[in-house]
Amino acid sequence: MEKLTMLREEGLAKIEACADLASLQQLRVLYLGKKGPIQEVMGMMKDLSKEERPAFGQQVNEMKSLLSKAIDDRRALLEAKEMNEKLEQEKIDITLDGYQPKVATMHPLNLVQQEIEDLFIGLGYTVAEGPEVELDFYNFERANIPKDHPARDMQDTFYINAEELLRTHSTAIQMRQLEKFSPQLPIKVICPGKVYRRDDDDATHSHQFTQVEGLVVGENITMSDLKGTLEFMARKMFGEKRVIRFRPSYFQFTEPSVEVDVSCHICGGKGCGVCKGTGWIEILGAGMVHPNVLKMAGYDSSKCSGFAFGAGIERIAMLKYGIDDIRHFYTNDQRFLKTFTRFE
Ligand code: PHE
Repeated sequence: MEKLTMLREEGLAKIEACADLASLQQLRVLYLGKKGPIQEVMGMMKDLSKEERPAFGQQVNEMKSLLSKAIDDRRALLEAKEMNEKLEQEKIDITLDGYQPKVATMHPLNLVQQEIEDLFIGLGYTVAEGPEVELDFYNFERANIPKDHPARDMQDTFYINAEELLRTHSTAIQMRQLEKFSPQLPIKVICPGKVYRRDDDDATHSHQFTQVEGLVVGENITMSDLKGTLEFMARKMFGEKRVIRFRPSYFQFTEPSVEVDVSCHICGGKGCGVCKGTGWIEILGAGMVHPNVLKMAGYDSSKCSGFAFGAGIERIAMLKYGIDDIRHFYTNDQRFLKTFTRFE
């Protein structure tokens, strides 16, 4: 019995002092395995009297389970310690900056173009495109600008050869649409696209820019339809309080032709720097489709009429976002582009 008590105390002390899992496993083998000191003591059983044996056996068993529990407890403790040390070592510093994925933004010209497309799609228009390398035929002749007509000089054209050029206005797309639909009615299309002119680049001019054109042809289409449509667009683009006004103008492919001004979205019409004190900002050209244009496309101009308008997308974007130099759109400076969020 004394030996047992000694063994137990010694065992418990060793377990308690054990500092790592590997040596704890060795202790388990030693005390609970087949060849340890406990087994040795068990061997003494045979020297005991029959009466003494059960009490002794019980003592041995109790000791075994005591040591086994002590080992389990110790293991749990050492495992927790090991885990904590590991976590400590592998600590992730969540205060460090992560890598920011670069998310692209919408280009302001695309934003404005999509906004215009969306609002006209909502009015039942379809969106049409055309080639940037265009035939003189669609860019000029079908637009009622015959060869050698002085109006051609107004549009400084990049010619590729006698018949082909870089289109100078989105009106070329309109002319193709008229031909495509002819003689069907009504036509309601919106035509966005890049156009080219031999301009010297400066803060307000670019040899390549973007236009969007609208065309409606049907029965009894009048100038008031044009006015209502443009007012709707002006309010969507520049605010609900905007009003528009028509000023007489001249385009070869429309008659009558107008320049359209919108009341200044900055000062509301009182006069400020943006509207140069006038309270009005010129935003686009428009008019009633010239009967010659309808006739050339195969329509009977006595039975139908139409309106058309063409706007510069850069100009609208500059007004809307307060951009002072058209070249910002093309130099692709990230600091500029980043200010336009994707979901506006
Ligand atoms: N094509 C004209 C321009 O480029 C704009 C316009 C389009 C005017 C349609 C009237 C009708 O300036």
